[in-house]
Formats: sequence, structure tokens, C-alpha cells
Amino acid sequence: MVSIIASNSKSIEQAAKILRQGGLVAMPTETVYGLAADARNGQAVAKIFEAKGRPSFNPLIVHVNSLEDAAEIAELSEQERIAARAFWPGPLTMILKRRTDSGLSDLVTAGLETVAVRVPAHKTARALIESCGFPIAAPSANKSGSLSPTSPAHVAKSLGDKVDLILADGSCKVGLESTVLDCTGDKPLVLRPGGISAEEISRILDEEVTYDLGDKDKPKSPGQLLKHYAPDTLVRLNAIDLEEGEALLAFGSIKFMGVKGKGAASDLPDTMIRNLSEQGDLYDAASNLFAMLRDLDRPEHKRIAVMSIPDKGIGVAINDRLRRAANC
Ligand code: TXA
Ligand code: MG
Repeated sequence: MVSIIASNSKSIEQAAKILRQGGLVAMPTETVYGLAADARNGQAVAKIFEAKGRPSFNPLIVHVNSLEDAAEIAELSEQERIAARAFWPGPLTMILKRRTDSGLSDLVTAGLETVAVRVPAHKTARALIESCGFPIAAPSANKSGSLSPTSPAHVAKSLGDKVDLILADGSCKVGLESTVLDCTGDKPLVLRPGGISAEEISRILDEEVTYDLGDKDKPKSPGQLLKHYAPDTLVRLNAIDLEEGEALLAFGSIKFMGVKGKGAASDLPDTMIRNLSEQGDLYDAASNLFAMLRDLDRPEHKRIAVMSIPDKGIGVAINDRLRRAANC
């Protein structure tokens, strides 16, 4: 049985000890739970790939506590520093030029000359990094290709005893993985939409930031190639009504939603309906997304029908995850 221990100064110290010895710890962050290892230790990092069943060409995010610590492993341009000052600590990952003396394991960056760096805001993640004193590699703490975990129970279910300790600190506030920003080319690009929108970054950089969510022939980010965030049950998007046997993932009011030939969606049993946000709040929807998809992911459901979500702000990130869940 994997140990799940509430986060406090003692358990954080215990977790730091496991990481120093080359083990794996699941740590809460404000986005999703991460599967942490010492980013300098190749054997420890290899355990992450093994535990997740993750293709080793897909590089990991390195977590540090400050811009100064980021500058120890990567080179930052003035523009990258402006973004860092505005959004760190927080749900922003930046693709940066890796320093030759970074000390990072090559496995973390999958042999690339760039490294993905993030400064998390969550107090437990920060305390753990502080206690370790070295950069921590952490992808989401789930099997590769499945939904990211937003609670300790999700981690235990997905990875079980492949992780040495789960530091438990409730559910994640943002609920979606960080925004991945790449300023290393001619124009700033968002490679993965997340908690911070391209519009917000544009305002800070005073330059247009565009989404580049991947071209199968020329992926900018290895993660763009992979099937991601998929429940076992089929997912149907932009549903305006339900077919018999479908579960409903709603957004906003379901007053006018019907089940074809069978009456109102609101009459379905509780197990078949989840509402991302009855008030239509996109931040609430983001934080509920993965847990609710999981709740509805049951073999007795023919499909999960999802109502449409406005494609603005964090809605872009929600729709990105939903399209991947629906495999389209
Ligand atoms: O919110 C998050 O970002 C969470 C928490 C734990 O911090 N972490 C997370 O990591 O989502 P992961 O490994 O599941 O996603 C990292 C993404 C992948 O799509 C990967 O391909 C991309 O970042 N990435 C990593 N290094 C890269 C690089 N050097 N160039 C381009 N993309 C990179
Ligand atoms: Mg992931």
C-alpha cells in the first residue's frame, strides 16, 4: 500500500529525504499533483518514466522556487524575465535555453537544448523544493495518456505503490496543467494552454502571443504528439442534447437539455450528471474538469456528452483538454 500522508513540516522533511535518496514523491501543486524526483539524478528521473509508462522522448518540467534559481539551470532573455516576474510563482512553464552547466540529467530534457521550467505557487511544493535545495523534475502524477490527478486519491488510483509517498494537501485550485510558453523563437508561442491565457501574457509582454497547439508533422512540444487526458469512456463534444445511455458533463444551466425521446436531462440519476459550473464560471470549470470526467468514466455509460464551453481565457485550455479526451 502506498502511504498517503498529510502535508506538514515533518512529512515534507520525510518527502525531501526520499527525494535525496533517489525516490519518487507525489507533491501537490496549484495546477495538478506532480510526480517528483531529483532532476539531477538520472536514475531517479528514469523511475518517473517507468512509473508513468511515459515515452522517454517526452521531456519533463523542472520546478524551482525563484527566477534566480531558474537562472542557475537556464539562460533567460529580458523578455523571459519579464514574463517570469509577472507570472511566477504560478501556473506558467517556460521553455528556456538549457545552461551547459545546469547539472540536470539529460533524461529530464530528453536530449533537447531547451528545458521547461516552472516556479510553483503551492506552499507544499515550495516547502519541498526549499527543503531539498535542488531542482525537482515533476510531470503530472498519473499514468501517461490518462487524466491528470487533482487529488491524492487520483494519484493513488493511477500510480499506486509505484510512488514512495503521496504528500496530501486537498484538491488543486487551478485543476489544469500549467500554460507552456516558448519565447525562444521569433515570436512568443503558447505550446500548451493552461491556467494563464495567451491574452494575459500578451498584455505583459506588449507583444502578440499566439497559440501553437501542434502540427502532427512538426510538433514544437513533444507532448503535443501524444494522446492525452483520455478517460476510457468515449467523449462527445458540444452536445446540445443527450442520446440514451450517455452521461452528461454540463456547463451552466441544463434546463433546456433533453434526452432524445426520453424527457429531461435533469431527470437522469446523479451518477450520470456532473456540472462543471452551474454559474458558468470558467475557473470553477477548470478546477472541476478532471475530477468530473473521472466520476463519469464508468463502463455503464455509453459516452460522456459534454456541453460547449466558451473558447476564451482559460476556456481555451479546457477545450484543448476536452478535444484530446475526445481524441479529435
Ligand atoms: O502544471 C503542470 O505543468 C504540471 C505540474 C506537476 O507542474 N506538470 C506537467 O508536466 O503537466 P508534464 O510533464 O505532464 O507536461 C510537460 C509538458 C509536456 O507536454 C512536454 O512535452 C512539454 O511540457 N515540454 C517539456 N520540456 C519541453 C521542451 N524542452 N520543449 C518543449 N516542450 C517541452
Ligand atoms: Mg501530464
